[in-house]
Amino acid sequence: MTDLLVVGAGTMGRGIAQVAAAAGYTVHLVDATAELADAGRARIAAGLHDGVHRGKLSESDRAATLARIHPSVDLAAAAAGIAVAIEAVPERLELKREVFAHLERDAPASALLASNTSSLSITELQRGLRSPERVLGLHFFNPVPVSPLVEVVRGADTGEHAIARGLELVARLSKQAVVVKDSPGFATSRLGVLLGLEAMRMVEEGVASVADIDRAMELGYRHPMGPLRLSDLVGLDVRLDIARELYRKLGREQFRPPAILERLVAEGRLGRKTGAGFYDWPDAVPEPAAVLEARTPRRGGRALDAPPGGPSGPFSPEPA
Ligand SMILES: NC(=O)c1ccc[n+]([C@@H]2O[C@H](COP(=O)([O-])OP(=O)(O)OC[C@H]3O[C@@H](n4cnc5c(N)ncnc54)[C@H](O)[C@@H]3O)[C@@H](O)[C@H]2O)c1
Repeated sequence: MTDLLVVGAGTMGRGIAQVAAAAGYTVHLVDATAELADAGRARIAAGLHDGVHRGKLSESDRAATLARIHPSVDLAAAAAGIAVAIEAVPERLELKREVFAHLERDAPASALLASNTSSLSITELQRGLRSPERVLGLHFFNPVPVSPLVEVVRGADTGEHAIARGLELVARLSKQAVVVKDSPGFATSRLGVLLGLEAMRMVEEGVASVADIDRAMELGYRHPMGPLRLSDLVGLDVRLDIARELYRKLGREQFRPPAILERLVAEGRLGRKTGAGFYDWPDAVPEPAAVLEARTPRRGGRALDAPPGGPSGPFSPEPA
């Protein structure tokens, strides 16, 4: 069986669907409405088209990859006959538990069931399921097609067989795996989010401009992308959800979401996906387009605290 189900056709679901289809899986891409599922596939199509245009992909690979992606709104029908399901719905425990309950009911008993959660407990997701041993975390990174890492997360009830199958899947998708114990934020989000939150507090305190804080980490620490630009790319709403979860779980002040993050999300400035966040993203294009280009991230435009140059004063948002 080579059918793979992706639940959620957002930023991550689209990327996972694309790499799975490129690796030869027949992919069922499910979202809450037919429009969203179709839009997800259309955005993948646009990205693949862009890839051909840039010479990164052959026309025949584009067509074959796209032909393997089937959008759907019917989770039960899409789950029948799959070998693997990966959910990439928003970071809310109850929503994900609901999705897993459906998957357990509708997917074959042999199917591997995975969550792309960044911060929720796999063990909590397993609770109440009849076959928790086949549930694990497969934490992909954004943008999925060019990010080499997948964290394979072992929940309290995850079976060895599921871990072995997860590792096999990761290899088939041409990614590299690290196996981590189920703990808040796993090995990556805990450190990555912390850096982003501290950078936001530095913006609030006027320590340096948005662009200079990013440049400091890019040039001083050789990070490929500064923490604020990365937060814009991930999505500020996603970052906020994760920060809240880590704060709740770890109870440490450094994970308390900064006011600036709460405010930007409340204003709908979610980063690149809405065209503005800590930076303006005037040339924001469907994410799949970005994933096929070189690893150098697409540069955003004006930073939140522009004009560029010296450190800004205390944070004062410009009108969006
Ligand atoms: N954005 C990132 O950089 C990133 C990185 C790694 C992991 N993650 C994790 O991946 C998951 C998804 O994040 P995202 O950024 O892709 O979110 P997103 O908001 O871009 O996409 C979520 C999608 O799920 C759909 N959805 C909501 N309810 C649904 C339902 N009941 N059935 C089917 N689809 C439903 C939404 O309509 C939306 O299209 C989250 O758990 C997040 O923490 C995100």
